[in-house]
Amino acid sequence: MPLICFASPKGGVGKTTLAANVADALQRRGRRVLAIDFDAQNALRLHFALPITDTSGFMSQLPQRPDWRTLVRRTSSGVFLLPHGATDVRGALNLAQALDREPELLAAPMREILADPNLVVIADTPPGASHALSILAPMSNMVCAVLLADATSAALVPEISNGSFLGGGTIANLMAGRLRVILNGIEPKSRLSRAVSEMLTRHLGPRLLGAICREEMMAEAVAAQRFLLDVAPGSQAALDLQETTTAIEAALGAAPELFAARGAM
Ligand SMILES: Nc1ncnc2c1ncn2[C@@H]1O[C@H](COP(=O)(O)OP(=O)(O)OP(=O)(O)O)[C@@H](O)[C@H]1O
Ligand SMILES: [Mg+2]
Repeated sequence: MPLICFASPKGGVGKTTLAANVADALQRRGRRVLAIDFDAQNALRLHFALPITDTSGFMSQLPQRPDWRTLVRRTSSGVFLLPHGATDVRGALNLAQALDREPELLAAPMREILADPNLVVIADTPPGASHALSILAPMSNMVCAVLLADATSAALVPEISNGSFLGGGTIANLMAGRLRVILNGIEPKSRLSRAVSEMLTRHLGPRLLGAICREEMMAEAVAAQRFLLDVAPGSQAALDLQETTTAIEAALGAAPELFAARGAM
């Protein structure tokens, strides 16, 4: 515990980038962090300097009921990682069918992972609705919906507000209190970006957890397999990231002893 899911009805908004950088920021604050990739793109590992040939992972093997403990990597950043694993069309179809038939396939290992009170778990999910998100959302302490400060993201606000991308009716209502929004890629010099950010800030009120500037070094950091706090610690985006991380900790009511760093998984 706790589980923080990064999700969005829209693709390419920075879910994976923020999941990796928030995991890194929490780790630097002494938290013991496990990042888990639930997206078949298997891209979270690219932020954590895993060898490109290392393609095994948790979700891709889930129908075979793997022991998740054997698949955890300790990355050079200090963050523990459960990669998704490489998969093809048939593998993705098998996984979706298996989760549809038996959600426990994922729910059971997640309960084991979350039973560790000294672990913060960060989940990166695929864009839009997914089996993984529908299983994870009810187990989550917080779902961070990532949006860009652009017109198409603004159009998705009703979907975020009523929680419909997390599921229908009751589940959406139950989840509403745990849903927070992070605005990513804000360009302070762009009139549209500023206008959309202001509109969303007014509309979302306390559900807006953080806002992060567009920063080229964010993308360059991935290419160098490092993190924003390594490559541009003084940038506005790094300050935004720190503030967002503080807001996540505050929202979770984090007691320091709950997150005491430890050496082993
Ligand atoms: N604040 C930012 N400033 C500049 N570039 C960013 C920022 N956040 C993310 N990016 C870039 O935007 C692109 C998309 O990011 P990312 O892959 O994290 O999005 P995603 O929501 O996980 O995408 P997908 O829906 O495909 O999983 C990447 O090239 C990333 O480097
Ligand atoms: Mg992604």
